[in-house]
Amino acid sequence: MTTRDTNATDGAPILELVNLKKYFQQEGLASAFLRRKRPPVRAVDGVSFRVTAGQNFGLVGESGSGKTTIGKTILRLEQPTDGSVLFEGADVHRLRGGALKEFRRATHVVFQDPNSSLSPRMRVRDIVGEPLSVQGVRGAALRERVAEVLQLVGLSPDAARRYPHEFSGGQRQRIAVARAVAADPKLIVLDEPVSALDVSIRAQILNLLRDLQDRLNLTYLMIAHDLAVVYQACDTIGVMYLGKLAEQAPSEALYREPLHPYTRILLSAIPRPDPTQRHERLPLTGEIPSPSAPPPGCRFHPRCPIAVERCAVDEPEWREVEPDHWVACHLV
Ligand SMILES: Nc1ncnc2c1ncn2[C@@H]1O[C@H](COP(=O)(O)OP(=O)(O)OP(=O)(O)O)[C@@H](O)[C@H]1O
Ligand code: SF4
Ligand SMILES: [Mg+2]
Repeated sequence: MTTRDTNATDGAPILELVNLKKYFQQEGLASAFLRRKRPPVRAVDGVSFRVTAGQNFGLVGESGSGKTTIGKTILRLEQPTDGSVLFEGADVHRLRGGALKEFRRATHVVFQDPNSSLSPRMRVRDIVGEPLSVQGVRGAALRERVAEVLQLVGLSPDAARRYPHEFSGGQRQRIAVARAVAADPKLIVLDEPVSALDVSIRAQILNLLRDLQDRLNLTYLMIAHDLAVVYQACDTIGVMYLGKLAEQAPSEALYREPLHPYTRILLSAIPRPDPTQRHERLPLTGEIPSPSAPPPGCRFHPRCPIAVERCAVDEPEWREVEPDHWVACHLV
């Protein structure tokens, strides 16, 4: 097993993943015809990390590495195959009654594409007010809170009467953020919150998120493809590869001294203005393998430029090599 067993930071964790696994069973005609089960997709395959209150924890990795599945499992949109998700110390998949209602209030999500996450037939006041009405807020209190959060995200109160299609992409993402913060949550999962936006708008939305985090004392789990985005926005970064964490460290440490070859490759692709800091661009060869048949040993070995014989056989242990700096590689 390659789970971490000590805390990454000194503060109490608000969120903790303990050896989380999520496998998807593959259905299909071929398997029915052959009367044998196809191997499951191991979307998340033993991931453990802790997020302290007020932190912005970034998860990066190539498409298909399991980032969204982690976000969904945290929010109970998926059931774990094994392992657990603890929110303020309680297993979120065992919550019932009042504790479950409180968890739903305290956690929210912002998806990549505001067009698909905002119902086109609902007015902004109903979209933003929905998490509040679920909690029983009605009438003037509801209207006042909707106006308040619209203002918080930089929209005018009269936006409440309009429909999502009347806004630009950046404004629509502001509406999604307003909805996410409406019920005064503690944790927000941000799944690629700026990837669908114009480059010129991205910085505005990232600044808004940072500002709201400070003002509302929020904790974020920010999912992104782009290491440059999480480096700027996040305090700690976890680098995912094929359902597992390859490396995790405070952003500065990861940027200054990446230890895992995969992180080094990802970082070498980020342009650096300071010529003394320039890294040679390292190529990432081959495709990410199928999560239903991950390579034995180190999952990265077929693409790793420094792999040795052992890498194809032994799975590297997830180790804390410096305080708060975790890595899974035989050669570190
Ligand atoms: N409901 C599902 N049924 C079957 N397989 C799934 C399901 N959801 C996700 N997967 C598979 O699990 C793996 C991880 O998917 P996931 O969406 O978590 O990756 P991701 O890191 O978020 O990728 P991207 O960057 O493209 O959003 C992929 O191989 C995906 O096809
Ligand atoms: S364990 Fe081996 S294959 Fe995996 S990242 Fe380290 S050197 Fe590369
Ligand atoms: Mg995703």
